[in-house]
Amino acid sequence: MKTESLARTNASTPLEVSLMRKPIHCLFLLVLSAGLVLSGCKKKKQTSDDQTPPKEKRIKIGFVVKQPEEPWFQLEWKFAQEAAKDLGFELLKIAGTDGEKVLSAIDNLAAGGAQGMIICTPDVKLGPAIVNKTKMNGLKLLAVDDQFVGPDGKFMTEVPYLGISARKIGQKVGKELYAQMETRGWSLEKTACCVGTFDELDTARERTEGAIEALIEAGFPKDKIFRAPHKTSDIPGAFDATHVLLTQHANVERWLVCGMNDSAVLGAIRAMEGIGLDADHVIGIGINGTDCIGEFQKEDPTGFYGSILLCAKEHGYSTAKMMYEWIVNNVEPPKDTRTVGQLITRDNFEKVLTEQGIPIP
Ligand code: GLA
Repeated sequence: MKTESLARTNASTPLEVSLMRKPIHCLFLLVLSAGLVLSGCKKKKQTSDDQTPPKEKRIKIGFVVKQPEEPWFQLEWKFAQEAAKDLGFELLKIAGTDGEKVLSAIDNLAAGGAQGMIICTPDVKLGPAIVNKTKMNGLKLLAVDDQFVGPDGKFMTEVPYLGISARKIGQKVGKELYAQMETRGWSLEKTACCVGTFDELDTARERTEGAIEALIEAGFPKDKIFRAPHKTSDIPGAFDATHVLLTQHANVERWLVCGMNDSAVLGAIRAMEGIGLDADHVIGIGINGTDCIGEFQKEDPTGFYGSILLCAKEHGYSTAKMMYEWIVNNVEPPKDTRTVGQLITRDNFEKVLTEQGIPIP
């Protein structure tokens, strides 16, 4: 009786009350539910076997970039991450800002069970060391953006590479600069061209040489094209080099500006603004199209007129997919893939970036 009354007080539903009163039914239900639980577990286990391989068997791909602070590289990572999601592999994003970091990243990737690595190396001359270390660790290797250079100074064409058609894109910059100068009716006498160079990097040299080539072909005087060699390939490096150039050519009234990427041109534009040269005196065209969005969003136009927008999606998504296919289906990536670019300016950047799936901050 005591039990009954307790049951009555604690039980919240009539079913519970009736179960407590009938121990045989209770036992039966217990067995049944235990069976259900067990079969449920079994089912769950099967699902996890089918769809999610055990951690150690999962495909892992490292994506190493030389300048993680550059929006360009952040976008490569973003698109590679999309590939990881679509294809179901794990992407390991690594900042490889110097040789030491890159070499230890390879060890860490191998130790962590990665099967492949995509890299934009901080120094193309590290190519042979990277190739050796990835080989030793059984990692597949794909170079993006900056092509490895061997001890003989030649490109290491045996390593699959995806980069831009650097000279053609540079020529596009040169042509557009000349066209803009003409549109604005600037006289050749008062105009010069500042080319921010970074010749130790082949893709950079090809871009700036391409721009110079196109300017000369269009009719720009060769002796008014001035090179400003950058010590570092970032905005401060470009700023410093341009500053020196400006002091050497204080009589120039109007400038055309180009360089290896957006940062190179942004640094130059800032240096020119520092001596009062604004959008009426400067036409700058960058390359990347991803690191200059803030510039286009400014209320008033600056000397940064436009940029050749590259295909960040191909550099991030396609390289990651190529690597995945190589690991899983043994489909080797093409040895040399080149991508193109298109001009964006304040007028069309929002439309074009949106079309390409690039977020606008
Ligand atoms: C180099 C540059 C980057 C970007 C890529 C494109 O790595 O440093 O800013 O232009 O090339 O391939």
